[in-house]
Amino acid sequence: MAPVITSIEDLRVLAKRRVPRMFYDYADAGAWTESTYHANEADLARILLRQRVAVDISARTLASTMVGEPVGMPVALAPVGLTGMQRADGEILAARAAAAAGIPFTLSTMSICSIEDLAENTSRPFWFQLYVMRDRDFLGRLLDRAKNVGCSTLMLTLDLQVLGQRHKDVKNGLTTPPRLTFTNLVDIAAKPRWWIGMLGTKRRGFGNIIGHAKGVRDMRTLSSWTAEQFDPTLNWDDVKRIRDRWGGKLILKGILDVEDAELAVASGADALVVSNHGGRQLDGAMSAIAALAPIARAVAGRIEVLMDGGIRSGQDVLRALALGAKGVLIGRAYIYGLAAGGEKGVTQALDIIRKELDVTMALCGLNDVNKADAQVLAGRAQLAVP
Ligand code: GLV
Repeated sequence: MAPVITSIEDLRVLAKRRVPRMFYDYADAGAWTESTYHANEADLARILLRQRVAVDISARTLASTMVGEPVGMPVALAPVGLTGMQRADGEILAARAAAAAGIPFTLSTMSICSIEDLAENTSRPFWFQLYVMRDRDFLGRLLDRAKNVGCSTLMLTLDLQVLGQRHKDVKNGLTTPPRLTFTNLVDIAAKPRWWIGMLGTKRRGFGNIIGHAKGVRDMRTLSSWTAEQFDPTLNWDDVKRIRDRWGGKLILKGILDVEDAELAVASGADALVVSNHGGRQLDGAMSAIAALAPIARAVAGRIEVLMDGGIRSGQDVLRALALGAKGVLIGRAYIYGLAAGGEKGVTQALDIIRKELDVTMALCGLNDVNKADAQVLAGRAQLAVP
């Protein structure tokens, strides 16, 4: 009998069963001790909601905007590398589920499906996430490619000039596609949904890079590629140059500090994402939710503030909105759905989050998601907020 799914955690458990270990671990991993990864969720869970009663809550709405784009709820799918290794054609499946839910999908530079391929197979314009590479010709071509297929918004990631070490990836010898060692074969053999899907698709390498970056015909490890290609000289002048070169909406992702948030405002970007990369980069950094309120207060009204890191429920979405976010990005929460059940699984994840958000708003006496503020919070138990 198919298991009854009631939470993102249920989808995570299924994902773990259905996806080869190296790819499950890739998603479900933080850097080093994983303290920041776990703090993202734990700090959210400590924020108490304020129960209100006898309020007319019959006219609830979750509709909002993110970076000027109408959204069915203030949630976007975050860029996640190797999404097409969680499930064959994963980026296409997730983008379709996002389009059906009326929310944005963000394609990672390090995706399996290429920009053009995704555009051909989906209808709603998606957002494109950019890593800054040393090869500026390649970088320029990536921007042109995204523009040519009608990407509405560019999301520039600033917190990954070098890759934080994720012990699980090192131990698993993560490669794309996986090396067919004895251990991997035994693991993959036990995940038939996964390998049957993979045999039926041509999308198995880094689609945006192989055949596009000079001299790259084969590229198996994310760690060797980032070490060779990601630009450690990236600075705020580059950000401004990319803003001018792109000419469209720009979101800066990876801001965790008020001073950096001020620099983000000065750069002329449209939005910033308060983020520690899901705890995958600087282990020991504060949780994203702890960083959110001081940043939102400091830049209020001058730049749109989004947030990601640790969102696993509609309740978490409301907590982030209450602390000043205009919307959130979810990564693992939809990846677990994708790995568990493909497009249907992502839809299930989004339905779970939407329903939790709606019911939580109702029980907090809130009708309009855009009016969520500190009034919906009962208190915050000892968050490490500076
Ligand atoms: C980025 O692509 C990551 O692996 O966190």
